[in-house]
Amino acid sequence: MSRTALVTGANSGLGLATVLALAGAGIDTVGSVRSAAKAQRVAEAAQAAGVEVRTVLLDVTDPAGGRDVIDRIRPDILVNNAGRASFAPVLEVSEEDARHQLETALFAPLRLARLAIPHMRERGWGRVVQISSLAGQLTYPLLGWYQAGKHAMEAVSDALRVEVAGAGVDVVVVAPGGFRSGATEELAEAVERHRGGAFATAFQRMDLGFSMMKPLWSEPATVAETIVTAATAKSPKSRYVVGYDAHLTLLVHRVTEPFSAVRALKEGVVRRVTGL
Ligand SMILES: NC(=O)c1ccc[n+]([C@@H]2O[C@H](COP(=O)([O-])OP(=O)(O)OC[C@H]3O[C@@H](n4cnc5c(N)ncnc54)[C@H](OP(=O)(O)O)[C@@H]3O)[C@@H](O)[C@H]2O)c1
Repeated sequence: MSRTALVTGANSGLGLATVLALAGAGIDTVGSVRSAAKAQRVAEAAQAAGVEVRTVLLDVTDPAGGRDVIDRIRPDILVNNAGRASFAPVLEVSEEDARHQLETALFAPLRLARLAIPHMRERGWGRVVQISSLAGQLTYPLLGWYQAGKHAMEAVSDALRVEVAGAGVDVVVVAPGGFRSGATEELAEAVERHRGGAFATAFQRMDLGFSMMKPLWSEPATVAETIVTAATAKSPKSRYVVGYDAHLTLLVHRVTEPFSAVRALKEGVVRRVTGL
């Protein structure tokens, strides 16, 4: 049966890899972008990959735009990918900016799901793939609001999964570790912004830590393959963790989490390493 997928934030990083992978798997694929120039970037990448990907203009924080896009496309598969990591100390993010981050990371994907699921119910089949992160299960300093969005998105997705399962709709969380994308530049910019400030050392060491972890990072195309599985498997898992770094970090977390003394020790190590 032919399926139509909508992937938000399709012009770079994971979103771009995902539209190419879904289209390559024979799925009618639509990617949302925020400008005509970004649509052109998707068209060129699709042409180079020998696949067809349609694009629509959408800022996911725009409720009317979201409604219009969902009503036109009526996706069987919704991949909520749009968003990117934001590196900042919790208290240095204004309430307005924090709300905007949560709007993108939490309210927008759930709004699109709310709009798309009635169409999925009608057909008795649907898939909502929520792109979370290792940051949806763990917390580190300097990523507080980003993690707030991902943790909340995972929590609400876990509830939604059970609520809509009876209608044939699966809600699947994909939680990648690191991969090369716009997020890498975002951290480099944060290092520059904070140079000379109270958090300069912490950002520089975070950047160094990321560089050391890079050999364990996935390619966006590898994460996209998992998204295709999450979107098409007959009986998908509720959560897919992707990448050696993510599996290793979660294993250490699960083994040490029950011991409160270890938690305090870990936080002490993080403080020492980041200079906080
Ligand atoms: N990179 C990582 O290591 C990593 C790890 C785990 C999870 N993730 C998650 O993977 C997803 C994709 O991130 P990425 O790393 O591939 O980042 P990216 O290359 O920076 O791409 C982010 C995409 O989201 C779009 N976007 C951001 N805000 C939007 C909005 N309000 N409305 C519509 N589109 C919006 C961007 O559009 P513009 O170009 O117009 O800004 C871009 O297309 C995110 O949900 C991120 O949290 C990333």
